[in-house]
Amino acid sequence: MGKSAAEILACLRDHVELLDGSGAGFCLAGPGRTAPEDAAAAPGQPAAPPAGLAADTRTAAEVERDVRSCKLCPLHRLRTNAVPGEGNWAAELMFIGEAPGRDEDLQGRPFVGRAGQLLRKIIASMKFREDEVYITNMVKCRPPENRVPHREEMEACWPYLARQVEIIKPKAIVTLGMTPTGHFVPGRTAMGQLRGRFADYRGIPLMPTFHPSYLIRNEGNREIRRMVWEDMKKVMALLGRK
Ligand code: URA
Ligand code: SF4
Repeated sequence: MGKSAAEILACLRDHVELLDGSGAGFCLAGPGRTAPEDAAAAPGQPAAPPAGLAADTRTAAEVERDVRSCKLCPLHRLRTNAVPGEGNWAAELMFIGEAPGRDEDLQGRPFVGRAGQLLRKIIASMKFREDEVYITNMVKCRPPENRVPHREEMEACWPYLARQVEIIKPKAIVTLGMTPTGHFVPGRTAMGQLRGRFADYRGIPLMPTFHPSYLIRNEGNREIRRMVWEDMKKVMALLGRK
């Protein structure tokens, strides 16, 4: 996944423009915070990797702190609270949703609204306590009208999630809906094709399944519920919970 020095500098330039609001460019620069002042101080110098591209060594507490004060994408402007995630930083199982909704934005906690209640029921049915798992989202601030986060927003927010996975080192990840699934399992496929089979993220088995909001919107559809439960049973089997 090597990037040339020129690409890295282009990313940082985009990032600086983004930060001062003059441009819309983003770049998936890999782990870590980018350091715009470094980029500005070294125009056209391909030499050593910019400081921001060094390995991300943030602790769990630092990730939470950074998320809560983050202004890396325009979603920060409309939020009440950023929502880093919650649960156990040594969890075997991690759930990744799309983005905070209204209730989550107001409370600063993930999955506390209607979809969240359903997710928490699913977790209990899987014989996990909530404090045994970790729950978070692709982006940590609520998009206006709960629209799907833009690609640029997901890219700006990605280092937080990447670091969360790196710290937690879960034995399994469940992605809820196509927004996180599309990020982890690239390609233009539908959930129907992706669910039910483990994908792989850096050696971690990753199970895509339908988002609980989708279950709510299709409340009468027992087939969708059955599929989600089938997917979760595979995760339980993998983690030795029957
Ligand atoms: N939907 C999500 O994807 N995430 C939340 O935190 C709440 C609803
Ligand atoms: Fe920062 Fe992510 Fe919130 Fe954007 S969505 S402001 S990148 S925490």
